[in-house]
Amino acid sequence: MAKALGIDIGGTGIKGALVDTATGELLTDRIKLATPDGGSPDDIIATVVDLIAQLGGVEDAVPLGVCFPAIVKNGRTMSAANVSKKWIGLKAEKLFEKALGRDIHFVNDADAAGYAEVRYGAAKDVTGLVILTTLGTGIGSALIYNGVLIPNSELGHLEIDGKDAEKRAAYSVKERDNLDWKDWAKRLQVYYEHLELLFSPDLFIVGGGVSKTPEEFLPLLTLDTPIVPAVHRNNAGILGAAALASN
Ligand code: BGC
Repeated sequence: MAKALGIDIGGTGIKGALVDTATGELLTDRIKLATPDGGSPDDIIATVVDLIAQLGGVEDAVPLGVCFPAIVKNGRTMSAANVSKKWIGLKAEKLFEKALGRDIHFVNDADAAGYAEVRYGAAKDVTGLVILTTLGTGIGSALIYNGVLIPNSELGHLEIDGKDAEKRAAYSVKERDNLDWKDWAKRLQVYYEHLELLFSPDLFIVGGGVSKTPEEFLPLLTLDTPIVPAVHRNNAGILGAAALASN
């Protein structure tokens, strides 16, 4: 059986599981640990080491994929919206490899989720342009054209009405400001309309924890583009990181 371990580092939680990369099924329970306050490199790396130990470790022959909430270019983290600014410019892939004593595959979290949905979910066999957005601590994005991922799109940081889009419309903002579904959906409407204007996509996919309850907010949106929840909900990052590592 083709298997790989996927670790999804987010602004709030760090999750991991062993994945059957042929089918996209989880082979173990998902373990979730809180992202350490401040999100510093040392603390996050230590939490990932701990999480892998809690999963029972991982054999060297099993590929290990790690996805992270920042621009990832040639193994370096080039931004840090919801983690410590110390990540900016860091050779993060190397640091994880040193701490874990083995190779990893390292990518942006939304790109990993997008890849998982192409391979095992809502973007499978979809032609044209798919935009996956993860609505969580921030807003992540994956651009997929005819099944090919175009990495590091960072559409959560589009400036809309003079504001960073994720600061208005991320799920964490709904929670922080106690917005009801209707008020949050108004912000999502503005955001997705803007994406439609810029990209004329063929499909939107919504990931992140809130994609577990799509019935609460997707029917409140009026868009020209079909919009569906990620098939793998909040596990898409884990699956994508594992699948990319096994390629
Ligand atoms: C980051 C992205 C990330 C997204 C979701 C944004 O703030 O800039 O790189 O994909 O949050 O975690």
